[in-house]
Amino acid sequence: MQIDLSLIGMEKGRQYETIITTQNSEGVKNAAPMGVLCSGEGIILNRIFKGSHTLDNILSEKEFVVNITHSPELFTSSLLESLDESLFNDDLSLKDCDAYFRCEAISFTEAIKKSDPIKSSGEALIIKSKVVELVINRETKAFNRGFGYVIESLTNFQRFDLVEGELKEFYIKRFKEAYRVVNKVGTKEDIKAMHKIKRELKAKGHDL
Ligand SMILES: Cc1cc2nc3c(=O)[nH]c(=O)nc-3n(C[C@H](O)[C@H](O)[C@H](O)COP(=O)(O)O)c2cc1C
Repeated sequence: MQIDLSLIGMEKGRQYETIITTQNSEGVKNAAPMGVLCSGEGIILNRIFKGSHTLDNILSEKEFVVNITHSPELFTSSLLESLDESLFNDDLSLKDCDAYFRCEAISFTEAIKKSDPIKSSGEALIIKSKVVELVINRETKAFNRGFGYVIESLTNFQRFDLVEGELKEFYIKRFKEAYRVVNKVGTKEDIKAMHKIKRELKAKGHDL
């Protein structure tokens, strides 16, 4: 049976921020924040940089869990520390998550994309996986970075008229980055909003 990720607000073609939990062949559990691209029909894609525990564990076990949470603490701790074993359920999910889904990796492909701002090509793998179980603990939507950028761009909107020189450059750079990210990962509504903000800024004579 195909699993419907729209039950947790995931749209086809959009990317969501999650915490992926994995374990190695000795059963040592690991958690790390990871983006998940919803590919539709119960399929997801990940692009994971080489050298991470998450990638090593998925390559060896072919299974992992995607945890949906809005907890700043869980995101921060899973990036900066090793999450304590007591925070995991036996099935590898995180005790505190709103929802989770279990995945089985189907294929691994070398990433060829060159536009990543941090690393260049050949250092990551694209993993295609099938979602085999979805558990919803409480009503939730997977976190998408787009809306935060829309709000930030709106809060900066009037500042464009008030600043000059280096500070103006700073706001232009911030807007360009927000525009790039929203177009890459945001929902249709987020993208529409960013286009509208850009049009307005251009109409006011700002050079974007
Ligand atoms: C919100 C967020 C999303 C991330 N998404 C990814 C991703 O999609 N792919 C990736 O390789 N790293 C991603 N990272 C970085 C990894 O979480 C980071 O490299 C981490 O140290 C890997 O931990 P691990 O070695 O325990 O797997 C992300 C980080 C954050 C904060």
